[in-house]
Amino acid sequence: MFDLDRFIVDCRAALAADASHKAMREVVARAVADPGAVLGGLGEPQRGAVHTLYHSDDLTILNVIWPPFMTIMPHNHLMWAVIGVYTGREDNIFWRRAEGDTGKVEAAGAKALGVRDAEPLGRNIIHSVTNPIPRLSGAIHVYGGDFFAAERSEWDPETLSEGRYDVAKNMQLFERANAPHASA
Ligand SMILES: [Fe+2]
Repeated sequence: MFDLDRFIVDCRAALAADASHKAMREVVARAVADPGAVLGGLGEPQRGAVHTLYHSDDLTILNVIWPPFMTIMPHNHLMWAVIGVYTGREDNIFWRRAEGDTGKVEAAGAKALGVRDAEPLGRNIIHSVTNPIPRLSGAIHVYGGDFFAAERSEWDPETLSEGRYDVAKNMQLFERANAPHASA
């Protein structure tokens, strides 16, 4: 059984033991190794949303439910992260800053994450994320800092030009992406 309080205690202990994401990856990998238990503990996803499970200055834990076919634009975090998928799929495109002083990014790689994958993302990673399937995908996202307060960047998905990451707008994107698939 996945117990959220226990998971938070384990994450805090991992952070205390190791300031990098290595110990945290083990904690997340252990959790998503039993995806049925995570679904039982967090509940079956009902609609796209970002649920905050834990939030402090040095640690943020989110339950990210991706609406079908949703894509979020390239963005950075400026803190490490560990993504653990417990239902569906998250396809990542990784980006790097283009040469010169254009502020733009160029594609640098990709990684498809499926159920039971626990993927560490370095502090300076830039990624965009797609849920490529016609149903909700769900993942636990653990960040080594305050996800909501950090000043960071997003890149326009059409022009790939850099802008200021807008947390409120991006949370709304999850809500809006539900609309085409709403049953009510
Ligand atoms: Fe991200």
